[in-house]
Amino acid sequence: MTTLADQWGIHPEQFWVRGQQPAQPVEFVEELGLWNVYGHQEAARIFSDPRTYSSDLTMFFPEIADPSMSEGNLLQMDPPDHRKLRNLVSHAFTPKIVADLEPRIHALTGELLDAVADKQSWELVADLAYPLPVIVIADLLGVPSGDRELFRHWVDALFANANQFSLKDESGEQAREFQKQQEQLQPMLDYLRAHAAERRTKPREDLLTQLVQAEVDGDRLNDNQVVNFASILLLAGHITTTMLLGNTILCLDAHPEQAAQVRADRSKVPGAIEESLRFLSPFSAVARRNTEEVELGGVRLPANQMLMVWVGAANRDARQFDRPEVFDVTRDPNPHLGFGRGIHFCLGAPLARLEGRVALNLLLDRFPGLRTDPEAPVTFMPSPNLTGVRSLPLLTGGA
Ligand code: HEM
Repeated sequence: MTTLADQWGIHPEQFWVRGQQPAQPVEFVEELGLWNVYGHQEAARIFSDPRTYSSDLTMFFPEIADPSMSEGNLLQMDPPDHRKLRNLVSHAFTPKIVADLEPRIHALTGELLDAVADKQSWELVADLAYPLPVIVIADLLGVPSGDRELFRHWVDALFANANQFSLKDESGEQAREFQKQQEQLQPMLDYLRAHAAERRTKPREDLLTQLVQAEVDGDRLNDNQVVNFASILLLAGHITTTMLLGNTILCLDAHPEQAAQVRADRSKVPGAIEESLRFLSPFSAVARRNTEEVELGGVRLPANQMLMVWVGAANRDARQFDRPEVFDVTRDPNPHLGFGRGIHFCLGAPLARLEGRVALNLLLDRFPGLRTDPEAPVTFMPSPNLTGVRSLPLLTGGA
């Protein structure tokens, strides 16, 4: 049977978006030398125990052990260092700071939609879903949002690879690819370093200034920490929310009865966004390392294995979700793992949710007959670790 995921051209290895359940919740993949975790309860257990399931993967990648590249990268840190840095950056990124952005996000979305108001057809990603989050995060950090084409150029290489990550890189192709990505990202790090250095001498009202002034245990963050953290924000502020917006519009287009409910009752907008995060999880995999021998999902894992935790699959686990293959904006509760869980729970979740809510409401307000273009199909990100729209041509004509 051809599923929606096949029609949309989602990466062939993502079986869960095709309504299939895994043979087992945890499996070893011989040819990649790592473990796949697909089950919801197994993923939740991993996220709740950072001592046993570490985010520090440097033993697998000696090339990222260089502190100039890893310092300040929250995603790869374990307690207690993670707690210290997270506390500090959480101060600069509070729910209030995010909530106060709502008028700006509203105005910006309005401006971006003004530019396509008279068009019969337009492309969601280029016209709205890419620029909106990038301008918002660039403004927050205090770097010129006008440089966003530069950011895109730097970041594109990171997500272009369509191959599955492997610990058995016998040909050396993966190492070369990694090296290429690092080289392509270097100008972004240099760019942020120059901005951070300027804030040390000329403070402004922005997040970069707060980061260079912030202190952990009486110590200021060093340049590497500031630059690497700022680069995560810039990267995360880029494609994830872009994919969320694209995926939500696509899911609503494919489920007209659900779209009609949301259109008629806007209190269902947040539920639609959560269901989109579950149904098509933008960040479909995150990695961990078990620090000791463990039993997980009925199998024994020796210490120091690499685990790919497929949150996209966990979000379709039939043991956790009733009719997981059904897109239901009223699903409640919806304990999806789209933003992770536990100490690494996405720091940007309130911002992504806010941008999603504002953008979806404005799209519904302004375009009563918005629909996908049968002549110009959606494309998806090529990476097997992402599930997200890369381009989505739309028609604005009558319903
Ligand atoms: C962490 C997904 C948007 C910043 C995470 C994690 C996931 C995730 C799954 C957990 C990673 C792990 O456990 O290893 C998403 C999705 C987004 C989104 C699906 C949009 C729909 C954002 C935005 C920002 C952001 C807009 C910042 C502006 C971060 C940061 C972390 C993180 C800094 C690391 C937190 C930590 O390690 O303590 N995100 N994210 N994310 N996200 Fe997001």
